[in-house]
Amino acid sequence: MEYQKIINAIYDEVKELKDEGSIADYIPELAKVNANKFGIALLDNEQNVYKIGDAQENFSIQSISKVISTAIIFSKIGNELWKRVGFEPSGNSFNSLVQLEYENGIPRNPFINAGALVIADLMLEHFENPKEYFLNFVRELSNNDSIQYNENVAQSEKENGYRNTALVNFIKSFDNIKNEPNDVLDFYFHQCSIEMNCIDLAKLFQVFANNGVISKEKTIFLTTSQCKRMNALMQMCGFYDQAGEFTFKVGLPGKSGVGGGVVAIFPNNYTVAVWSPKLNKKGNSYYGLETLERLTTITEASIF
Ligand code: DON
Repeated sequence: MEYQKIINAIYDEVKELKDEGSIADYIPELAKVNANKFGIALLDNEQNVYKIGDAQENFSIQSISKVISTAIIFSKIGNELWKRVGFEPSGNSFNSLVQLEYENGIPRNPFINAGALVIADLMLEHFENPKEYFLNFVRELSNNDSIQYNENVAQSEKENGYRNTALVNFIKSFDNIKNEPNDVLDFYFHQCSIEMNCIDLAKLFQVFANNGVISKEKTIFLTTSQCKRMNALMQMCGFYDQAGEFTFKVGLPGKSGVGGGVVAIFPNNYTVAVWSPKLNKKGNSYYGLETLERLTTITEASIF
């Protein structure tokens, strides 16, 4: 497949689209990013990288990090995980509180903020230094030791994180958070603040296109069944209340973040990462979705 030609053509077309999105500003530090950035990187399973635009510029991966923390905990404790968090789409926005009371503090899935906070709590339970473990894990899979947390972004979110503070305290009232809320939030804001470029991100997610095997060392990180389940979660919950539309138009498992990143997996074929900070009303990258819809349409290949 001539991926380079295809992503070049998509890039040229998408960057001419009318500006329909706006940058996330509820985390003030994120609002400083140049809204016109746009990059694409595709990594095939033979390790060829195809890239265009701002594919080598770092950005804040935000909620995309939730897939990695969930996968770490899933590989560590297996199906015990599903006692603490569900695996159903929520149909609500990423930071919604509304289902939690009816559902006794068990978040619908690990990718909405409520679920990611429970996963953060599990990271604190299972690792002595979860921040260090998480960063090293990301560096190893991305094959890039220069990846860092952005302390300014983490701090900026901490200062404005009223919604996440409410969520973690509410879940604790149901005894589904075991650690101190501030410690859970500190880990969570750090995991979200991690910065990398589209190529790093495609490499980080290749494990999900590779049946759970880390290609570099041929190490099994997730069993085939666990990898299936991670991809199913991305398919059903990766774009929150736009997960149906993403499935309908793109047909691949994927995950978005409010930094404007989107990553998608075509199992046994490729991993693709797009970055464009302008978000649609559901908090997902506008160009990101437009790019991926064109990719699976032009290549005539998706999981469906
Ligand atoms: O908790 C938050 O609100 C952010 N740190 C992450 C949200 C996010 O990326 C939602 N995804 N599109």
